[in-house]
Amino acid sequence: MYYIVEHKHLDEVLSVIQLFYFGEKIKQVDEILDDDIVIKSTIKDDLAICTIYKDKKEIVCKKNSLENLSKDSFSNEKARIIKLTVYQAIQQIRPLNMPWGILTGVRPTKKINEMLEEGFSEESIKNILEEKYLATNEKIDLAIDIAKIEKNILKNNNKNKISLYLGIPFCPTRCVYCSFPSFNLSQYTKKVDLYLDCLEKEILAMKDYVNSFDIESIYIGGGTPTSLNENQFYRFLKMIDDNFKKPLIEYTIEAGRADTITRDKLKTMKDFKATRISINPQTMNDKTLKLIGRNHLEKEFLEAFYMAREEGHNNINTDIILGLTDETSKEVLYTMDKIYTLSPESLTVHTLALKRASRLNENIDTFNPSSFYEMEKMINITKDYAKKMNMYPYYMYRQKNMIGNFENVGYCKDGLECFYNIQIMEEKQTIISFGAGATSKFYFEDTNLIKRAFNVKSVDDYINRIDEMIQRKREIIEEGI
Ligand SMILES: C[S@@+](CC[C@H](N)C(=O)[O-])C[C@H]1O[C@@H](n2cnc3c(N)ncnc32)[C@H](O)[C@@H]1O
Ligand code: SF4
Repeated sequence: MYYIVEHKHLDEVLSVIQLFYFGEKIKQVDEILDDDIVIKSTIKDDLAICTIYKDKKEIVCKKNSLENLSKDSFSNEKARIIKLTVYQAIQQIRPLNMPWGILTGVRPTKKINEMLEEGFSEESIKNILEEKYLATNEKIDLAIDIAKIEKNILKNNNKNKISLYLGIPFCPTRCVYCSFPSFNLSQYTKKVDLYLDCLEKEILAMKDYVNSFDIESIYIGGGTPTSLNENQFYRFLKMIDDNFKKPLIEYTIEAGRADTITRDKLKTMKDFKATRISINPQTMNDKTLKLIGRNHLEKEFLEAFYMAREEGHNNINTDIILGLTDETSKEVLYTMDKIYTLSPESLTVHTLALKRASRLNENIDTFNPSSFYEMEKMINITKDYAKKMNMYPYYMYRQKNMIGNFENVGYCKDGLECFYNIQIMEEKQTIISFGAGATSKFYFEDTNLIKRAFNVKSVDDYINRIDEMIQRKREIIEEGI
């Protein structure tokens, strides 16, 4: 499939095309070619026009007026109409109703919260999402319900409260879909101690500033923090304990991969007062676990989970992904049945996203993504099981290139929302971050603006340029806004 965009809203047009042509090869060209489909988006005489050609013959032409544009709260109104035109044109050859319509590139709950803050009624937000963005009622209700839960938590934010993130960018193997900062531990064993030295340097440089606030939550992520060996893991958690004030609300540690979890590390997490841990099956099907490059089987996940319970971890999250290679609703039913018997405190359901920097994307020719309808079925299965486990949705986000343009949803049992997840999504609290690939977000309440300090992703660069990483944060702190 080819496309031509003759105005500056290329990214917006592409985001709509990708909804309908997920996982297919799409390429930008300058002229109509005489094979395959060509989608052309232009602006002429105050009209947004989308024309679709097949073998050089025009088969669809959709036009919408760009005159008298109203102010729009979600996005640039001109861009919205261009997207709508492309969407309506493609729908004539691929008759699908996308769950979120043309809502791409925005965080629905963040926007809804801002609109509620500005005084929009729930009803008017619903109307805008339905009529202007063509989102389905089911998704609109989901986003509004979540926004209201988040609002209740965000209302307690103030200038004196912050959260912290610390990243360990190592994993035992790299999962095929992953694009997170994650390096194969076996290739870095000699550098892990050096990495921890640099983390300590970054922590020491920032501790006085950090401790001048109330720390509400700490999140340890990655990669897989538990891929450190037991001594390193202890050293890392002690470093945090020695230098930062205790978090007031929550202390989460990702113990994602069952093949990195030992009783000793579970005890260490408990000793350092982690309040929430995450152990992630992704799927309970051994065949899929092998295909996605995770080095553990269902049995090992179950053992790790039970061991965590034995060690007193009473707030465990489990992550799963829908749309994994060769999985259908049958496999998802099996996964959810198993999760149901474990009764975790929260469940995060991801829709597979095709990441540019992932191995899956490099081998895209051999990947056969689940159909839109199968994805819908799988999502409904997880929704039903979450309800059966007395969980409700409390946070949500969407990414580029998700199968079927669905969403990721975090469910939890009563009162067990992950505080940090909400803060990171809604961007209304400063989060100071440490480690390779970690991004600090400084939120300035008076102006509602955010400044970001990025740490380099590569472990070697992080080690070699640690002073620069510290300096980047210091500059923002000194400048303010
Ligand atoms: C930051 S990742 C790290 C978690 C941990 N290292 C693990 O893999 O268990 C958090 C979650 O994002 C999800 N995830 C990662 N890559 C994804 C992708 N390409 N598409 C959808 N979900 C993805 C997985 O469920 C994963 O557990
Ligand atoms: S374990 Fe998590 S962070 Fe590591 S490669 Fe897999 S998905 Fe990525």
